[in-house]
Amino acid sequence: MEKLIQLAAKDILVSKYVIALTGAGISTESAIPDFRGPKGLWTTDKKAEARAYERYELFLTNPGAYWEEMMGTGGAYGEFYGKIREAEPNPGHHALAELEGLGILKCVVTQNIDGLHVKAGNRKVWEYHGSVSRLRCVSCGARFDLDEVSLDELPPRCRCGAPLKYDVVHFKEPIPSDVMEESEKEALRCDLMLVCGTSAVVYPFASLPRVAKFRRGIARYGSLSGESTANVKIIEVNAEPTSLTCEGISDYFIQGKTGEILPAIVEEVKRIRSDCPGDS
Ligand code: APR
Repeated sequence: MEKLIQLAAKDILVSKYVIALTGAGISTESAIPDFRGPKGLWTTDKKAEARAYERYELFLTNPGAYWEEMMGTGGAYGEFYGKIREAEPNPGHHALAELEGLGILKCVVTQNIDGLHVKAGNRKVWEYHGSVSRLRCVSCGARFDLDEVSLDELPPRCRCGAPLKYDVVHFKEPIPSDVMEESEKEALRCDLMLVCGTSAVVYPFASLPRVAKFRRGIARYGSLSGESTANVKIIEVNAEPTSLTCEGISDYFIQGKTGEILPAIVEEVKRIRSDCPGDS
């Protein structure tokens, strides 16, 4: 592990455009369950997972019932939103915020809806699956902070009259085009990508490491295999290996907790910088 942390720090310091992709695994140390880890929401509650797959359809067909369900505190999903609202960033989030503060990390693209990267201090964050603290209109695309909209009457409505939903991307719901395009641009531009705390099984997010490695946009990404055409380092930090590890998309895999590994990488970056200030 030590050697890999030193290697990651060296790779980061010689890179020109470092970005981080994160998943639910970076927030488990903030007491927010992930989805597919051993104690994940979907691992432990298959009914909640099945309901999650129907949620976007429910919104489209019966926005009132969608809101009844989303406001319901019953069931894992109700508690899940409650845990998210109480959560605080952990050392993994703070490490990425510090890496941005050092002028090294250019952005975070996260699947997490908990807002903890922004709370930790990262300013450039693309929330690929949205955020529980906003509402969005699927008709005109307008977004509202939760405290801007009254939930006394359900469903809440947009200025354009259409019903609003949480700005959370549910299964089978399209990724908002602005976030999708900007995230793909970052993947195409980076020369080092940290992939932290994700099982990398949900698309199109899971294609971003392949987009970076093969330098082809999602629309054209076809079968991304064969030799990488770009000089991009993909460094994976996760509790367990994923398809990125097994398919050789990740250049190397540092196994363990993001809350321990990411701070160690940042400390090593600062140590190298202070030992050889002129080098990077
Ligand atoms: N440190 C490192 N890795 C961790 C930690 C930790 N502290 N805790 C959990 N993990 C790992 C798990 O082992 C798992 O491989 O993080 C990964 C989390 O994977 P998922 O639970 O599948 O979460 P994620 O990849 O973000 O899911 C993607 O699925 O249900 C949808 O919309 C939801 O955004 C989510 C998407």
